[in-house]
Amino acid sequence: MKDKTTEYISDAEMHRQREYIDKIHAEVERAGRVPLAFVETYGCQQNTSDSEKIKGMLADMGFDFCDKPDDADFILYNTCAVRENAELRVFGNLGALKNIKRRRENIIIAVCGCMMQQEHIAKRIKAKYKHVDLVFGTHALYRFPQLLDSVMAGGRIFDVENGDGAVFEDISYKRDGIPLAKIPIMYGCNNFCTYCIVPYVRGRERSRSADRILSEVKDVASKGYREVMLLGQNVNSYGNDLESGLNFPQLLREVCRVDGIERVRFMTSHPKDISDELISVMASEKKICNQLHLPVQSGSDRVLKLMNRKYTAEQYLNIVKKVKEAIPDIVLTTDIIVGFPGETNEDFEETVKILKTMEYDTIFSFIFSKREGTPAAKMEDCLTDEEKHKNFDRMLEVQNEISRRKNEAYKGTVQKVLIEGTSKTNEEAMTGRTEGGKVVNFKGGCCSVGQMVDVKITDARTWSLIGEVVKQNLTN
Ligand code: SAH
Ligand code: SF4
Ligand code: F3S
Repeated sequence: MKDKTTEYISDAEMHRQREYIDKIHAEVERAGRVPLAFVETYGCQQNTSDSEKIKGMLADMGFDFCDKPDDADFILYNTCAVRENAELRVFGNLGALKNIKRRRENIIIAVCGCMMQQEHIAKRIKAKYKHVDLVFGTHALYRFPQLLDSVMAGGRIFDVENGDGAVFEDISYKRDGIPLAKIPIMYGCNNFCTYCIVPYVRGRERSRSADRILSEVKDVASKGYREVMLLGQNVNSYGNDLESGLNFPQLLREVCRVDGIERVRFMTSHPKDISDELISVMASEKKICNQLHLPVQSGSDRVLKLMNRKYTAEQYLNIVKKVKEAIPDIVLTTDIIVGFPGETNEDFEETVKILKTMEYDTIFSFIFSKREGTPAAKMEDCLTDEEKHKNFDRMLEVQNEISRRKNEAYKGTVQKVLIEGTSKTNEEAMTGRTEGGKVVNFKGGCCSVGQMVDVKITDARTWSLIGEVVKQNLTN
């Protein structure tokens, strides 16, 4: 199988990086104390997956992990640039580290991820955050062992490059626990929605070869993972950049063939790339979860055009109609932006209308945030901040009522729940997800993480369901 554009980091280069890992490991052993790393991740699942790779490298170097920067020898923030508030939090956290560095000057402070791919940010850190020892961008991730080695030798390193960045393989992940494994199937984005920074900080679409993806799925299955989430900024355009090989629906079919994997999810899908083939594979493959995250962003055709989303509200409605016909119990979620430049109150009403028509289970909604270098940053606003916030609050009110109503409908039903852990709010309770991805909290005791159990839903909240176990699944 020949890849048209996907460039991989060579085996020789990865071997060189592994030598740095071994070198640091030897130094750690010599020091006779296990160093602690604190890694905090912002942003989307792609970043979470990148952090799992970095943590894998750190674990191979002999690091253990801690929950507080105060305890750490190595502190890393893996950053997100998608909205301004994510960036402000990183700067706030970095500022607070000045004191820790003053007290313990041997600690190493590092920042990586999407924010660092923006020149003005990297420059600002270089000039104003002198206690930061290492800055590296998304494309330099595979070089992390070498960069850390240089910093340990006393350097202050900035390694940010533009371009697309080659894909690297063969590293050990330190994944978040069983049962869910996140597997990137492609990197970057070609869509250039006018508000979005992602194509600038993550480069163009690069699909991994199906062979490599499938061997990773088999690997996680052999390690006891029951569910995989296939990741990409636009997963359903998977393979468009490859000369030959599988398209996304075909890849999904192959992933479903892997023994041991019981659930397959994917995100994010772009409406323009939802094909009939994809809908029919989703409907026919039992392992593919009845869940679709399909960002609509706005209900106004005028705004969708300004956003460069490449569909109209009617086209979107028709796609969802087809999906619902094929998979009647689909759990549908979306992303919405309120206050896009040029959006009027009439445009906003179209968004409220589409929410009422679609009846999404959940929405992820954001007030537009100006991103330097994107076309929307130069567009003129129609509404004041106050009007935008008022619209935002009203939209949430409308949606919360819908979400609550949709969850109420689950009362009395029995759902298959894959257990993910103990509940965040009550240690005696277990938490897991339905096939549709809804969080269910229920009394534990009988079962363990990674098990599939039948749970009767007894109560509903806006964001989650409450239940009790009626049967442990015999396949466990
Ligand atoms: N590739 C995915 C995810 C992109 S980022 C997709 O296409 O859906 C996740 C969400 O953040 C987007 O769907 C959008 O709703 C929101 N977003 C992106 N840029 C934004 C901006 N500048 N201001 C506010 N929200 C934004
Ligand atoms: Fe951003 Fe649009 Fe690409 Fe999603 S599809 S990452 S919103 S440019
Ligand atoms: Fe943020 Fe980068 Fe993801 S900008 S949303 S972490 S790809």
